[in-house]
Amino acid sequence: MCGIIGYIGERNIIDVLLNGLTHLEYRGYDSAGVALFDNDKVVVIRSEGKLTNLIDKVKGKRFTGSVGIGHTRWATHGKPSNNNAHPHKAGDVVVVHNGIIENYLSLKKELIKKGHKFDSDTDTEIIAHLIEDYMLQGMDFLKGVKKALNRIDGSYALGIICEREPEMLIAARNESPLIVGVGKNEGFIASDIPALLPYTRDMIFLEDGDLAVITKERVEISNQDKDIKRKLVNISWNQLMAEKGGFKHFMLKEIFEQPRAVTDTIRGRLNKENGKVTFEDFPLSRGEIKKLSNIYIIACGTSYHAALVGKFIIESLARIPVMVDIASEFRYRDPIFSKNSLMIGISQSGETADTLGAIRETKKRGIKLLSITNVVNSSIARESDGVIYTYAGPEISVASTKAFSTQITVLLLIALFLAYHRTGFSDSFYMDIIKEFVKAPHFMETILKDVASIEKIARKYVNKKDFLYLGRGILFPIALEGALKLKELSYVHAEGYPAGEMKHGPIALIDEEMPVVILAPKGYLYEKIWSNIKEIQTRDGKLIAVAFEDDHNIDEVADDVIKVPKTIWPLMPLVFTLPLQLLAYYIADFKGTDVDQPRNLAKSVTVE
Ligand code: M6R
Repeated sequence: MCGIIGYIGERNIIDVLLNGLTHLEYRGYDSAGVALFDNDKVVVIRSEGKLTNLIDKVKGKRFTGSVGIGHTRWATHGKPSNNNAHPHKAGDVVVVHNGIIENYLSLKKELIKKGHKFDSDTDTEIIAHLIEDYMLQGMDFLKGVKKALNRIDGSYALGIICEREPEMLIAARNESPLIVGVGKNEGFIASDIPALLPYTRDMIFLEDGDLAVITKERVEISNQDKDIKRKLVNISWNQLMAEKGGFKHFMLKEIFEQPRAVTDTIRGRLNKENGKVTFEDFPLSRGEIKKLSNIYIIACGTSYHAALVGKFIIESLARIPVMVDIASEFRYRDPIFSKNSLMIGISQSGETADTLGAIRETKKRGIKLLSITNVVNSSIARESDGVIYTYAGPEISVASTKAFSTQITVLLLIALFLAYHRTGFSDSFYMDIIKEFVKAPHFMETILKDVASIEKIARKYVNKKDFLYLGRGILFPIALEGALKLKELSYVHAEGYPAGEMKHGPIALIDEEMPVVILAPKGYLYEKIWSNIKEIQTRDGKLIAVAFEDDHNIDEVADDVIKVPKTIWPLMPLVFTLPLQLLAYYIADFKGTDVDQPRNLAKSVTVE
């Protein structure tokens, strides 16, 4: 997730670009840059690190032109650095981009063969070169852009300018947000509404496949080469509402971002046709994968719960024993490693001190280390032999939500990858998983369409003092995660338990005051769960069940039921997590706690 801005008009252009970037910095902050006209030439200024570094670089400078673009980056391809910062320039063409170009490697090879020289490791730079290449063949700027867009696969929101066209700003969108702002004799583009609110409230929301040509006088939009009219919307939000995308809290916004985050994390890595998974940076060779005897996964908090899900999936699909440990415990044990082990460290921030410490212990033993993290070039990423990034985008709320879903997504990809290399895909079961896997974002969207029913349940239980969360098998870690979300957000005591363990102790807690959230997917250990339900009922416990949409029996026995789309077991964690995040969110909101920054917690725990 990055932020892009663009302007054409008579205002002080550098102020518009920097002000816009300030409002977009929440989308990424590892580097920033602008490109704008000055005396008929395009000047590109970029800076690694926070936006303030760029602001310092341009302080006091004045520019004569009336068109420019800017970018604030959240690295995906290529670590944060000056060279990888946007805008990227090739010949006369300058581009800023938010998204992921899936076929950039093959296009890059093709362009290198033709003599193009690349300055960065990004996927974005190929877009500038591709347009330049078409212009070198004699096409004008607009034609060159159209031709280039036909060649690229993936997601993009683009702002493009050209030294030969000082009165034109081009914008294009596919699966990444992009808005055009309309003013009097001026036009804007931005990834999000807040960047434009100081200047205009009249906005056009581009749709997939749209290409907008913006001049001072007009905005012309086409899609598949056909001219098209899009509605001009007047935005009434205030600035703060706009930064949260109209949501009350960043957490709620991030919960709603999960379908997009999971899609981005799968994108370019999973071939839906043959089930093949590819990673840019996997630390083991094919031979080493074949010999792999066991995997250790370490993490903290929510990331630890993702690791527990990973154990289930990897053991079951790839048939490799997996041991999962809490990082702070692991580093003070004396674990036994075999020569053919792989260590996986999971951390959203990539900076958690406990996880970092455990990773360093492992490295001393000569074990290969793979990290799963959301932050490019974070400490954990730098110390690993290989990294797989989750493409969740910056997670601002302290309570982790979209990072969790994308971590599970990566673990499922790893399981499929290992299974492919060790056993091949002879079993149609694997292809069934892949077919269902690509539907996961859609399942999540279905749940998000009816948050009102979950909000209603939250209101009913808001004054309860203790909660029990129960799940079995692959849903036990989700019960743990549901309980953690409730604890950290609402300061209500909650415990996650494997449902089968209830009779070994926690059953003593159950009475009419105790709500029990039970994860009950029909067709998966259902008879066992049903026994737990009966045991809870007999003791007058209040039952909140999360169940499949076709399960009508559960309506008869549970006090409240949250229905989710039916899916197969490896995908259940992605589906069952959302209702629990929402339940915790609404209970905390009704209680009036500080949802985005709960007391005593920090987003990144960099102390032991
Ligand atoms: O950045 P990390 O994934 O390493 O963070 C680990 C935990 O601190 C984190 O998941 C924490 O438990 C969250 N607040 C949970 O919502």
